[in-house]
Amino acid sequence: MGGWVGGQAEYVMVPYADFNLIKFPDKAQAMAKIKDLTMLSDILPTGFHGAVTAGVGVGSIVYVAGAGPVGLAAAAQILGAAVVMIGDMNADHLKHAASVGFTPIDLTKSDNLGDLIEAVVGKPEVDAAVDAVGFEAKVQGKNGAEAPATVLNSLMSVVRAAGGIGIPGLYVTEDPGAQEEGAKQGNLKMRFGLGWAKSHRFYTGQTPVLKYNRQLMQAILHDRLPIAKIVNATVISLNEAPKGYKDFDSGVAKKFVLDPHGLLTKVA
Ligand SMILES: NC(=O)c1ccc[n+]([C@@H]2O[C@H](COP(=O)([O-])OP(=O)(O)OC[C@H]3O[C@@H](n4cnc5c(N)ncnc54)[C@H](O)[C@@H]3O)[C@@H](O)[C@H]2O)c1
Repeated sequence: MGGWVGGQAEYVMVPYADFNLIKFPDKAQAMAKIKDLTMLSDILPTGFHGAVTAGVGVGSIVYVAGAGPVGLAAAAQILGAAVVMIGDMNADHLKHAASVGFTPIDLTKSDNLGDLIEAVVGKPEVDAAVDAVGFEAKVQGKNGAEAPATVLNSLMSVVRAAGGIGIPGLYVTEDPGAQEEGAKQGNLKMRFGLGWAKSHRFYTGQTPVLKYNRQLMQAILHDRLPIAKIVNATVISLNEAPKGYKDFDSGVAKKFVLDPHGLLTKVA
């Protein structure tokens, strides 16, 4: 977005670098946490933006759809959430999410999200929800068919009246490969009337990374957010990138970090 291309390369020319780069206060302190700090460039602010815009605060009951890196990075815990459930159909993602403190929701067990949430918190309702899946969503349950609006619809069904839905998950204006005719032009079968009736707030769009990266940097530097462990950051060289992409697509519970100059491997 914005027309800048070629970020995944040996070197990047940073546009408006005086504004876009973030300066770490101390090199040695930063190098000790460099794997965590790497997450500031995209997924951490993105997941966090989802939680902030969903209105997560002290004592919130939260549901995050999607246990990929963005869902894991929603960091609702540091906003004070009481419970953070995370739903997925990918068993490895759920196992990893449980190991780093989330309450996993196995969406293969039922096609009714409310029932699964009720089993954890006693009622089929949450205060806030984050869509960390986007238009590539599959229908929950066992069959897993492509269903681009399924997460939005299921979140409207479980978020309480006047609750918020943060949507960092990507939606597109065109998806020529989509199965549904409408979805090819980005038209989704969304039950928007339900959201209207429940006075929901929806927040979408590309993340304003600079809005969050200084505060998240401080949370990392001061040991409040072990984000590399949470997303299972795995450092690979540029040569290993094609395999990294393949593994990511196959659904492994890892966030790959490309390290073209061996800088991170030295400190990892
Ligand atoms: N807004 C932004 O600025 C921004 C930035 C980065 C990424 N993103 C988007 O965030 C989304 C997530 O990124 P990621 O890297 O974590 O992707 P990912 O593919 O690793 O994770 C998505 C997860 O959603 C799961 N899933 C599929 N259908 C589901 C359903 N119905 N309910 C719950 N889970 C379901 C998948 O099994 C997968 O584990 C993508 O759409 C990505 O493009 C947005």
